[in-house]
Amino acid sequence: MAVAIIIGGQWGDEGKGKIVDILAENATMVIRFSGGDNAGHTIVNPYGKFSLHLVPSGIFYPHVTCIIGNGVVINPAVLLDEIDNLESHGTDTSHLMISNRAHLIMPYHKLIDKLEEERRGKKSIGTTQRGIGPAFADKVARLGLRAGDLLNKDIFLNRLRSVLEFKNAILTKIYEVPPLSLEEIYEQYCYYGERLAPFIQETSSIIQQAALRGEQVLLEGAQGTLLDLDFGTYPYVTSSSPLAASANIGTGLSLKDITHTLGVFKAYTTRVGGGPMPTELEDKVGKLIREKAHEYGATTGRPRRCGWFDAVAGRFSARLNRFDSIALTHLDIYDGFPTIKMCTSYKFDGETLDYFPSDVSILEKCQPLYEELPGWQEPISGICNFAELPAEARRYIARLEELLSCPVSLISVGAKREQVIKLNPVLF
Ligand code: GDP
Ligand code: IMO
Ligand code: MG
Repeated sequence: MAVAIIIGGQWGDEGKGKIVDILAENATMVIRFSGGDNAGHTIVNPYGKFSLHLVPSGIFYPHVTCIIGNGVVINPAVLLDEIDNLESHGTDTSHLMISNRAHLIMPYHKLIDKLEEERRGKKSIGTTQRGIGPAFADKVARLGLRAGDLLNKDIFLNRLRSVLEFKNAILTKIYEVPPLSLEEIYEQYCYYGERLAPFIQETSSIIQQAALRGEQVLLEGAQGTLLDLDFGTYPYVTSSSPLAASANIGTGLSLKDITHTLGVFKAYTTRVGGGPMPTELEDKVGKLIREKAHEYGATTGRPRRCGWFDAVAGRFSARLNRFDSIALTHLDIYDGFPTIKMCTSYKFDGETLDYFPSDVSILEKCQPLYEELPGWQEPISGICNFAELPAEARRYIARLEELLSCPVSLISVGAKREQVIKLNPVLF
């Protein structure tokens, strides 16, 4: 493995943080390349339990350079809280870098995210209300402020003044709320700038050089494939691309640098927020999964919607990203299930669909068609060798590999760093 991309294969929260925390031991660099603090990557390791929103999950290894890449949108307040929290738990953050090209989340982004969700009413997306959508919209509209702008107060003030004039017109005239104060935002961001200045620099050349030297570099995805702006369940998506294809743009690496694409999948399915989810279980099985796995959002605390594994969506995701292998997480949650279902196709309008529809109005009406596999009764969370897994668990994995046409290289059987079964030596 030289440059590996770690991607969420479903609707996010697959356990990407845990997988990166494991793989980072043998890496020299971990880079976040997309999303923002809508991400919540939980890590349980010897230093404690952490929910990282912006800082890459390699931060616990002092030898790993951790970079927040140009493709990320950064809320400086959240980032500083995260840095302070890590430091207060004894984790050194001096090996963190921030791309000067990364865009900043501004107070009006958060406010507009909230106001837009209110305006959508019953059709709300269920965003994390972190200002992600409005910040990416401003990046595309060329109205953004970037981390590098924090390094020059005059440039920052001039740019903020002209953008805020426009934003305040929208806030007061369209949303009919009071305007935001230029002075207050400027002062606040000057403070953030002073504190973050030591971390901000041009990062693409540093990343490119590491790749050229053949170092082990991990590109840590955020969100999940089915939340992708283009290929996800639009409009119930996030405002950036969680796909492997966006890792190059979000870091400055070439397509030719990538050597492994790892898809992280839960053994079942979860989703937070609105939008269709064909295998959602609103019965006691869904509730059992939620309570057993503590399926509550790491960023918003909202209960996650739970259901059986959806191999139709999984195949779509595996094809879009061309995964070389899969990290299968949360297999332990199925301990004690008499049988386990897996969705292999959908029924729509009397027809059987074996593909993931692009139109949410169709997906909303799709009924999952299931295959039922035998469960296992013994606990697997202490198992480290594949051969020791119950035969039924191995059969479940084999069927999933078959349906997604992709081998499993890593199996996670609990939240802790050591609760993992490693199958593919290429990754370690
Ligand atoms: P991420 O956003 O993809 O990093 O995932 P989250 O951290 O949001 O959600 C995954 C949750 O499952 C966290 O609470 C993890 O501690 C936990 N977790 C990760 N892997 C496993 C696993 O294999 N089994 C169990 N039971 N929990 C896991
Ligand atoms: P990680 O990296 C799960 C979801 C939100 C909402 C939609 C749009 O932890 O897997 P946004 O705030 O991005 O505009 O919200 O996307 N969402 C996530 N769901 N995990 C995430 O990140 C998510 N990031 C965004 O719940 O439905
Ligand atoms: Mg998460």
